Amino acid sequence: MRAIISAVSHFAPEEKLTNADLVKLVDTSDEWIVSRTGIKERVILDKDKGTSYMAAKAARSLLEQRKIGPDEIDLIIVATVTPDMFFPSTASIVQHEINATNCWGYDLLVGCAGFIFAFITAKQFIETGQYKKVMVIGSDKMSSITNYKDRNTCILFGDAAGAVLLEPSDDNGPGIMDYIFKTDGSGKNYLQMPGGGSLCPASPESIAKGLHYLQQDGKVVFKKAILGMVDTTRKIMEKNGLSNEDIKFYIPHQANLRIIESAAKKLGLKKEQVVINIEKYGNTTAATIPMALSEIYQAGLLNKGDNIIFSAFGTGFSWGSIFLTWAME
Ligand code: COA
Repeated sequence: MRAIISAVSHFAPEEKLTNADLVKLVDTSDEWIVSRTGIKERVILDKDKGTSYMAAKAARSLLEQRKIGPDEIDLIIVATVTPDMFFPSTASIVQHEINATNCWGYDLLVGCAGFIFAFITAKQFIETGQYKKVMVIGSDKMSSITNYKDRNTCILFGDAAGAVLLEPSDDNGPGIMDYIFKTDGSGKNYLQMPGGGSLCPASPESIAKGLHYLQQDGKVVFKKAILGMVDTTRKIMEKNGLSNEDIKFYIPHQANLRIIESAAKKLGLKKEQVVINIEKYGNTTAATIPMALSEIYQAGLLNKGDNIIFSAFGTGFSWGSIFLTWAME
């Protein structure tokens, strides 16, 4: 028996934040943003709504797609770095929102690799035989921690949620096959939100210094992201005897088009193998991979037996790649 994806969904808010909008906020241009990042617009959630709103929307879509009731869900894992609040967990809020009365849930706070880490955690609960239906949701309201006066970061991020339902298969055929993950905490200072935690609680000073916004050394993250994603993707392909021709879709975390294109080039993948939607959404952190998967599923591009690789890199640093074979008809 293997864990398989039995439903996939996403939720993107309606309000757009275009490059033209950002030109009004910071000293930048559409040409600079598109050429350096590939991003044309992002979607932004209403100020009065939190990450759980998008997560619950994606969760409800999973239930509709799979035609099951919320009481059938055993576990909800929400990957996010922008929980509604530190506690209770966003998973608790989603559980209540969708009325999933027979389950438990928790958040996993990893950043851009959050979804893939949560996904593999969920796989263990299925493959030990413990549970039959686990929801894995990647949801982030990045606009809530983005400084719209900092042109280095505000151009990059957007808000969205993506979700999958994992269930056991009847056989040892298609499903979630393998993964390679890494964490290297020596990178902890290159991509962080310094304020608001136990080390630096909120204070007038922390607010004045902008410590409650995401901060990063973009150049370091850029280089490390390419190296990390290429390394774990190569290793997982070697380990599983996969050649480039065996891969139907490579679904990378959507942080910067140049990161994706450079990684794909180093891996020798063809354009049509690489799933890209960053131009419409920007970097939605834990949501990027399930959202990209959901879009190609909705477009009818996935067939049973297709080999797929997920790959992500982000804060921590934490990164990795997953090999799966599509199991739905
Ligand atoms: N508009 C215009 N100019 C900008 C700008 C903007 N929005 N942002 C930065 N610049 C300027 C810089 O100030 C710099 O000017 P200077 O040379 O006078 O100092 C110049 O453009 C080049 O900046 P640089 O940082 O070298 O650009 P870059 O090509 O490395 O692109 C990022 C910057 C942030 C887009 C890129 O490094 C990146 O995407 N990094 C990865 C970040 C990421 O994805 N993090 C999320 C987690 S995975």
